[in-house]
Amino acid sequence: MARLDGKVAIITGAARGQGAAEAALFADEGATVVLTDVLTSEGEATAAACGGMFLQHDVSDEAAWQRVVDATVEAHGRVDCLVNNAGIFHRAKLVDHTLDDFRRLLDINTIGVFLGMRTVAPAMITQEAGSIVNISSIAGLVGAPNSIGYGASKFAVTGMTKTAAFELARHGIRVNSIHPGMIETEMIHEVASHDDNRLEKMANSTPFRRSADPIEIARLALFLASDESSFSSGSEFVADGAVTAV
Ligand SMILES: NC(=O)c1ccc[n+]([C@@H]2O[C@H](COP(=O)([O-])OP(=O)(O)OC[C@H]3O[C@@H](n4cnc5c(N)ncnc54)[C@H](O)[C@@H]3O)[C@@H](O)[C@H]2O)c1
Repeated sequence: MARLDGKVAIITGAARGQGAAEAALFADEGATVVLTDVLTSEGEATAAACGGMFLQHDVSDEAAWQRVVDATVEAHGRVDCLVNNAGIFHRAKLVDHTLDDFRRLLDINTIGVFLGMRTVAPAMITQEAGSIVNISSIAGLVGAPNSIGYGASKFAVTGMTKTAAFELARHGIRVNSIHPGMIETEMIHEVASHDDNRLEKMANSTPFRRSADPIEIARLALFLASDESSFSSGSEFVADGAVTAV
């Protein structure tokens, strides 16, 4: 028996990067996957490759969230897992960070996660079961230079995860956050876009001396989405190659 047999999972920001790795792994492990993203053609191709359903979806849009959950329940009868993975990064020093950029980070990284949890919760409460996995960051646990808006948006995810876990526990719903370090996706290239050698320098300065492949986060998300993590809720799961260990 596969680890997600019979389960229906919604994964946001799944057109590429970590979300795409999670969709492929979850499908391999028996889940029916619903991939959502603002990137329509990439999202459709990724969904086709793993036999999933793609829905165009901006996570900061309240009405679009209801359409995603309704379409999932209509097509597949239930929703067992939600991976709130969609996110953006913006590099700026505190003194240069515009309010518009700060608000955009909160809209997508924070309000997107809030809306996702709130919209999916009624279906999970009816089922008396569910697992929500929120992708935060190590920037949601410790300070990181030149990313005050991103850090604010990801610390909020850490806090919301704990509150939701507490409220939803009596309904059999678990909520956890994942805190990746440096993962090889489009986003990390944006983090280091100001300097050609920056990525290599960043990776070499970590205890593992490398960045991670998206599958290394997908495996953790799989554990949290599955019943194997049945007693874990409201917790922070760090996968950062020991960057925040000291
Ligand atoms: N790459 C890293 O080093 C790293 C580290 C820590 C945390 N994270 C987090 O991991 C998650 C996945 O990022 P990734 O590394 O795969 O980067 P990525 O940029 O490859 O993927 C992010 C995905 O989110 C989608 N997205 C952006 N805005 C959206 C919106 N409004 N609605 C729906 N989808 C939207 C993008 O189109 C993209 O497909 C993000 O939440 C990110 O903050 C990444």
